[in-house]
Amino acid sequence: MGYIKSAALEETGYVVLDRYNQELDPKEWLEIEYVDWKSSGETRFAPLASAKGEIEVNGFWNHEPPRTDKDGVWIPSQVEKAPNLTRRAQEPGANVGRCRVIELQPTPYGETLYNLHQDDNNRLNPDGTGWVVRGFFNLTDDKDSFFVLRENRTDPSVEYRIALPAGAQLIVDTQRLWHAATHIGDEPRYCLITSWESGPELDAYIEKYNGKSRVPNVELSQEELDAGQAEQERRLAARAAYYAAKGKAEATAMSEA
Ligand SMILES: [Fe+2]
Repeated sequence: MGYIKSAALEETGYVVLDRYNQELDPKEWLEIEYVDWKSSGETRFAPLASAKGEIEVNGFWNHEPPRTDKDGVWIPSQVEKAPNLTRRAQEPGANVGRCRVIELQPTPYGETLYNLHQDDNNRLNPDGTGWVVRGFFNLTDDKDSFFVLRENRTDPSVEYRIALPAGAQLIVDTQRLWHAATHIGDEPRYCLITSWESGPELDAYIEKYNGKSRVPNVELSQEELDAGQAEQERRLAARAAYYAAKGKAEATAMSEA
């Protein structure tokens, strides 16, 4: 039967929506409660919706009973502090799974390439229902930062680099595309990440905000690109050597974000 997917994401695996006027909203992400959760860089997370409405960010499949990344339970104490973020996550009217703000410490490009990973949003997702994709709403004004997306983790031939100013809005099939963020600056980056079920509601939302499946890549020099690729190779080799020395099979995937 297959999953219900968005035609808008078919070509590249992402869409960029119209920019949101972030400056009008209070900085709600500074008020909510964070938990330590290592994922693709130095990170913490503040959940707005979780598996059971508790302040934790584990995959829904790690709870009892295990389930896919849908039907997230809103956390009253967090929603109360972040009504605008909650409203934005609920605006499409699509089913929401996990919804949380990520705090990411500065991360250079080469480290980002090492951090590239695919998500596991559709584990236990019943066939014939909507494929789970993710919304990324950049909250801080990270003018020099960008999201990196690849079809293949180690192959630079297909790489999208999407700018992350305040109000940048992306929807990404994060189970298809390898992804991580390069964050340039001295302060942490904050971004609202929401798992949405694909379907007519999400399609209408993408159309309403003029989703574009291609935007110009953030420019990097050939030297920066080459240095980043070399750093990814170096880190992957070091990691493989570490696990080989420990006599363990290397984990096949980075931690799920
Ligand atoms: Fe992720």
